[in-house]
Amino acid sequence: THKIILDTDPGIDDAMAIFFAFQSPDIEVLGLTTVYGNVPVSMSAQNALALCELAKMDIPVTKGVGMPWVGPESSYAHFVHGDDGFGDINHPAPKGELDPRSSAQFIVDMARQYPGEITLVAVGPLGNLALALRLEPELPKLIKGVNIMGGAAFVKGNVTPVAEANIWNDAHAADIVFSADWDIHMFGLDVTNAVPFDPAFVDILAEKNPVLGGFVQRSSQFYIDFYSQGRSDRVCFFHDAFPLAHLIEPDLFEFTEGHIRISTDELNRGQTSVAPEGTTASPLWLNAQKVKVAVRVDHPRLTQLFIDTYAR
Ligand code: BDR
Ligand code: CA
Repeated sequence: THKIILDTDPGIDDAMAIFFAFQSPDIEVLGLTTVYGNVPVSMSAQNALALCELAKMDIPVTKGVGMPWVGPESSYAHFVHGDDGFGDINHPAPKGELDPRSSAQFIVDMARQYPGEITLVAVGPLGNLALALRLEPELPKLIKGVNIMGGAAFVKGNVTPVAEANIWNDAHAADIVFSADWDIHMFGLDVTNAVPFDPAFVDILAEKNPVLGGFVQRSSQFYIDFYSQGRSDRVCFFHDAFPLAHLIEPDLFEFTEGHIRISTDELNRGQTSVAPEGTTASPLWLNAQKVKVAVRVDHPRLTQLFIDTYAR
């Protein structure tokens, strides 16, 4: 099994991904570390706790970074995820307590406890990972790998023409994370926007798993309304589940390799620029790491994996 820390900003597709990880026999979730993004960080942390309680998972949940590395407080994505981050479904508040540590400190503590064993799965803005790198410069040596939902390498963005939300939200932090010497797999809009899920899919999740799938079905109604604007069909996208699916079935994906830097200037903020091999001589690119960028995914097999895992 893969030991992971899931860094998240729940969030509807975050919830779908968190339950997917909980349900998978191949994944052991050591804790949920939360960050601002879709919602402010206090809500993100409470939401993560609520999801653990619904799933009866007694694991640490930490509150993390609440602002970008540089610049003012971010705008949130309530128009995508609802006022409550769950599609306005009136889910009860959690009863339990957060772990008192910051998300970054928790990541460092766990990495020291299980050197070389942990995969960080990051599905929100990257502030917690960047801060953890500053707290423990040796962190890359202690971490097995980093699977990121974020970016848009060869396709258009979803916040600006060039930027995806998680990377755009904290471009400086993302550049720190992408410049660290660890093994990164990036699951951006290149693959996540290639796989639309229709209402029948969330109905199946609910039928297979009334508690967890039922939650996803109810909260997805708002999410589907958002994604269906300006389209003739009704769909939504479960971005955050992709980096987890890769841990379970790596060959679902095809990758291309490239050195990535994140633009931090205003116009191109959050762009995940990929330099092919042999084009990295410029000093600005010297720290850029070689990243595996997912460019294709087996849609039918991925859908079946989600269904089978929720059905367990
Ligand atoms: C990402 O942004 C958030 O809205 C989603 O939860 C996902 O992590 C997609 O761009
Ligand atoms: Ca997310």
